[in-house]
Amino acid sequence: MQQLSEVHRNRIHALFHSGPLIPVITIEHPDQVLPLCQALVDGGIRALEITLRTEYGLPAIERLRATMPEIWVGAGTVVTRAQYREVESAGAQFVVSPGVTEPLLDFGLTSSVPLLPGIATVSELMLGYSMGYREFKFFPASVAGGPDALQAFAGPFPDVSFCPTGGIRPDTAADYLALDNVLGVGGTWLTPSDAIAAGDWRAISKLTRDSLVSLGRLT
Ligand code: 3PG
Repeated sequence: MQQLSEVHRNRIHALFHSGPLIPVITIEHPDQVLPLCQALVDGGIRALEITLRTEYGLPAIERLRATMPEIWVGAGTVVTRAQYREVESAGAQFVVSPGVTEPLLDFGLTSSVPLLPGIATVSELMLGYSMGYREFKFFPASVAGGPDALQAFAGPFPDVSFCPTGGIRPDTAADYLALDNVLGVGGTWLTPSDAIAAGDWRAISKLTRDSLVSLGRLT
């Protein structure tokens, strides 16, 4: 069986080395892409995930790669190989899936773009583990057991790390980041829909900066 390459693993670690918070962004209007992402970058974000939950996701990835080369742009909610191919072509630098299927995990081994597969249980983790994956998204984190579950996973899988997402808020992010097997956390709390609808980009920069400061990752 083919195994995951070190190159992919190093890319995932480099991604989280750039910062501990990954905003999970669903684009509702194409005009919002650049100001929203610029606001996050102004607040200190260096990596973000654009989901394929709307038709604007794919073109947004392409646009961000062309205009903001200084940040990591990932594709989220990738659930099929066809979508994986599309985000590869759009220039995504990492791919996130909410769960795992064998075809998707297989595709991630041969793609030039590393996959962060989503798992919620030990059995799903073991499927990815058997193919060489050692870094996973833990989703939906708050209902799948929260920090306690990740602490429990560290027993049988001390060489596995996670990016929890789903239900994480400013007051719970620190509990996850305090764990040795957490690389970073993701979520939507940095991009409140009312601030986006109002075009209040300053509020988003401030929220981002405040979150990073309160986590001790920015002074
Ligand atoms: C994800 O896909 O990671 C979730 O949609 C995050 O959303 P939440 O932070 O609003 O729970």
